[in-house]
Amino acid sequence: MSILDIRVLGDPILREDTTPVEAITDELRTLAADMFETMYVAKGIGLAAPQVGRTERIAVIDVDEEPLVIINPEIVHAEGKAKAEEGCLSIPDIYGDVERYSKIRIRALDLEGQPFEMDADDLLARCFQHEIDHLHGKLFIDYLSVLRKRSALAKWSKEKDKYPRFIRQLSSDPSDDHEHPDEEL
Ligand code: NI
Repeated sequence: MSILDIRVLGDPILREDTTPVEAITDELRTLAADMFETMYVAKGIGLAAPQVGRTERIAVIDVDEEPLVIINPEIVHAEGKAKAEEGCLSIPDIYGDVERYSKIRIRALDLEGQPFEMDADDLLARCFQHEIDHLHGKLFIDYLSVLRKRSALAKWSKEKDKYPRFIRQLSSDPSDDHEHPDEEL
């Protein structure tokens, strides 16, 4: 397995739509395994293909030590609203309150190519919505009010110089952590 570079805000791939997966190949299985490894090293709870420079419609999630791969995911039911702070591995050190559906049902394929449906609420529901957004070129900052988005982008304009060519290289060195109590997706 390999740790992949994470693309950060400014890389155009984060704004592109992904391509639905048509066949489960060894290459896709390797990508999923590498995405899990990358997400764990980055201390995230979700990671979508565009964040590692890929265009396949796939994301990995691990909330509460339950690793999930979602391929071609769709939300088939949604209800309720909940606001909570979010961050993103592709926009390090920037956080903002985002209103999401509090309860959803998703439909997706697993790594065997089998369709499944899953109900989710709370953090898992939020994580699914955040990752599905990534698969369609949408980022959490898009939900912020004009003022909050402006202040997030002003902060980011100072942060982004740490990531030449919009690439965030992870190391497996635990001292590399950046400090924030909330999880990133
Ligand atoms: Ni994200």
